[in-house]
Amino acid sequence: MSNTLDESGNSRVNVVLGGLGFIGSNVIKHLVKAKEKCIIVDNEVLGHDSNLGNVLGSPLLNVMKLDATNQLTWTKIRESCKDANLRIWHLAANSDISLGAQTLLPDVKNTLETTVMLVENMVNLPISEVVFASSSAVYGVKNGEVGFKETQHCFPISYYGVSKLTSEQLLEIACERLKIPLWNFRFANIVGTPSTHGVIFDFVTNLISSSDKLMVRGNGNQCKTYLHVDDLIRLMDYLLQEKFTGTWNIGPGDRGITVSEIASMTISHLSPLTSIQYEVSEEGWPGDVPLARLNCTKMNAVIPFMVKGSKDAVHQAIHEVSSQFGLKFICNSV
Ligand SMILES: NC(=O)c1ccc[n+]([C@@H]2O[C@H](COP(=O)([O-])OP(=O)(O)OC[C@H]3O[C@@H](n4cnc5c(N)ncnc54)[C@H](O)[C@@H]3O)[C@@H](O)[C@H]2O)c1
Repeated sequence: MSNTLDESGNSRVNVVLGGLGFIGSNVIKHLVKAKEKCIIVDNEVLGHDSNLGNVLGSPLLNVMKLDATNQLTWTKIRESCKDANLRIWHLAANSDISLGAQTLLPDVKNTLETTVMLVENMVNLPISEVVFASSSAVYGVKNGEVGFKETQHCFPISYYGVSKLTSEQLLEIACERLKIPLWNFRFANIVGTPSTHGVIFDFVTNLISSSDKLMVRGNGNQCKTYLHVDDLIRLMDYLLQEKFTGTWNIGPGDRGITVSEIASMTISHLSPLTSIQYEVSEEGWPGDVPLARLNCTKMNAVIPFMVKGSKDAVHQAIHEVSSQFGLKFICNSV
């Protein structure tokens, strides 16, 4: 393993909880490109080491296929990092939305308990920075139409949202006590590859199983903001480098795109003759927030570059997810 030094000249290791998932594998590819050492902790409940592509064999990586809710995992992390400075990326969570709508256990275990175990072990680890992947789900419904602001009160309406908000609060207390800088990133919907879940993943895989009819959850008017994963990585990288700690909405800052627009766009690329069938409910599932726009004024005031808007991000992701599944697509846009 080569030695990456942080700003103080100490050896730094990135510990990425959930590093084999969609966003995690993109973070890892970015870190390896920057010659940073990484320990991945992932129980492969949704992620897989194939998501790392040709980075998998890198000598900079130590892949631990372990559960972050297990104390033994934390003992192993401690043994393998010795005196290094650890930057923790907490990306592990339950991403199975339909499962999380039926029972709270996956969110309690994989979204909340992973945080509890991190907080419990923080005092015994040489941690210099903590990055947490939170979500717009912490806000609930208020201001979803105009755009959620970091300063507003949060009233989550899903087990996932409650688990993310509680995780943020636990990390804030622990980081304050231990004087560790914390980045709480509240992501918009992130799209791109290797996709493991989400609306585009669902549409593409549904079209693979049946091209007669695309069944859409909810009435299709749900409107959310979408950010491409490449832009997410650039944004996090910038805010980390500049030491802009605290809570940040991370999104395109636009009005978003509806589920019916995404359904039509997916069909026009993959299967133009397929019909679309909607449900009557406003929500796609219990706990879904039909209008979820993120106000990104705070972020936009500090970043020196532009990111793609929701529609372009979704469009690019439809191409990428189609290719991920080996599908040929038609694209009529110039
Ligand atoms: N993708 C989005 O649109 C989005 C939006 C907001 C927030 N987030 C958050 O960003 C993070 C990454 O999301 P993603 O889209 O890459 O999801 P993902 O499901 O692809 O990745 C999460 C990873 O965590 C792993 N994991 C789950 N429970 C674990 C446990 N107990 N121990 C070890 N590993 C465990 C999974 O195997 C998976 O690889 C998550 O925390 C998610 O809640 C994602």
